[in-house]
Formats: sequence, structure tokens, C-alpha cells
Amino acid sequence: LACGEVGDGRFAEPAEIAFQVESYFKNFGKWAGKKVLVTAGPTREAIDPVRFISNESSGKMGYALAQAALNRGAEVTLVTGPTRIAPPSGVKVVPVSTAQGMHKAVLKALPKSDIVVMAAAVADYRVLNPSKSKIKKTNGELSLRLTRNPDILGDILRRKKTSQKVVGFAAETDDLRRNAAEKWKRKPCDLLVANRVGGRKGAFNSDENELLVFARGRVEPLVLKRDLKSRLADRIMDMIEG
Ligand code: CTP
Repeated sequence: LACGEVGDGRFAEPAEIAFQVESYFKNFGKWAGKKVLVTAGPTREAIDPVRFISNESSGKMGYALAQAALNRGAEVTLVTGPTRIAPPSGVKVVPVSTAQGMHKAVLKALPKSDIVVMAAAVADYRVLNPSKSKIKKTNGELSLRLTRNPDILGDILRRKKTSQKVVGFAAETDDLRRNAAEKWKRKPCDLLVANRVGGRKGAFNSDENELLVFARGRVEPLVLKRDLKSRLADRIMDMIEG
């Protein structure tokens, strides 16, 4: 239970509580009847029954986005990889573990969704032929052969109807603007939300973030200065609304 900085039942920051109340009343019912699909968290790819490879991701940004959609009255499905935080109450949670599991769950929910927000940190590779039993250590080196996972966002962009809006994410350690702009060309979503990861001020596990948002019709990306992830999530929802 809550003792110190983290734990179940830890009281939320007052600024966070105040913001959620404000957001709820400001946006009440705006998205009533809309269906929003959000992916969040990392995926895990098994090496053997007790080991896996994964991506760094707390799930906080994705969960904040799900909460922001919920505050507008939308029906929210949250397809989430394993995280240590509780999903917002009121969302339909679809827990998944692997990229292939997330792919399947997302494709199932896609036809009914009006808005798709892909905040998950999906592993681009999985282990080819994971071992069915625990791999025993030996003195030599151990090599793993990796194979590509499906690109879920790429697949959605190919299948989506024009009425469906899609938000993609880019997590970059270097040259954020250039790498994200390049990613947006490859994955032309309605919005591409880019953030810096790694280093002291990186987004990982923090309650705050700083974003660059590429949007159709904008020549330059919008800079969203360092703020609570919940406030940033609300700004992204405003941009989806147009
Ligand atoms: N994504 C996905 N399926 C994957 C990998 C990523 O759906 N297998 C989604 C993420 O949820 C995110 C976006 O695609 O919305 C990130 O784009 P991508 O080009 O795949 O990012 P990276 O894997 O970081 O690409 P790169 O290795 O080129 O930096």
C-alpha cells in the first residue's frame, strides 16, 4: 500500500485532482456516443517461460489519454500491455502481453472505433522460437534470434475508414523534430505526437512530459511545453476535435 512515493492507494497530487475535476466539467458530454480505442504500456516478448524482452514504458501517457477521452463522455477501450498503474475506472480494459496479442485486440476493436490513439510502446521484434523450458546458463555466450513483429499502427493506417481519426506516437532519443517528421511521412496519422525519451528529462515513468505535435494542415509542429501528462492528454483531445 501507499508508503512513500508510489503504491496502491497513494493519494493523487492535488494539482492532478484539481485538473481532473476541471477537465470533467469543461468537457462534459462533448464526445458522448463516440468510441475511442487507446493502446498503452509496453509489450513483452518471451525468451523462455521466465524471461522476456520488452520496451521501457510506464503506461502513464496512454492511461492519461484514456482518462481524457472518458472525461469527454466517450466509450473508451484500453488495450494495455503490463503496467504497474491502475487503469482509469470506467474504461473497458483489454489486457495483452505480446505485440501479436495487441495487434489482434486492436484489429478486433478497430471497426467500431471513431478515434484510435496508439500510445503503446510496441516491441518491434520478438524472439524467434522462444524456449518452452527455462534456458539453463552455460559459460559461453547466448544469442537470440529476433524476428519482426507486426506494425500495428501501419496496419491500421492501411485499413482505416476516412471518418476514423488516428493518433500515432514517436519516442525518440535524438533529433526529435527531424526523426518525428520523418516518421510522420512514413505513418501519416491525423496527429503524430512526439516526445523525447531517455536522459534526465525524458518522459519515462514521469508524471510530466513535453511534446511536439504534428497535425494535418500545420506546417510546423505545435510545441506543448513541459506539463502534467493529464493536461497534455487533454490538449491532444482538443487537437483531435480540431
Ligand atoms: N507501433 C505499432 N506497432 C509496432 C511498433 C510501433 O503500432 N510494431 C506504433 C506505436 O504505438 C507508435 C508508433 O507506432 O504509435 C511508433 O512508430 P514506429 O515508427 O514504429 O516507432 P519506432 O518503433 O520507435 O520506430 P523506429 O525504430 O523507426 O524509431
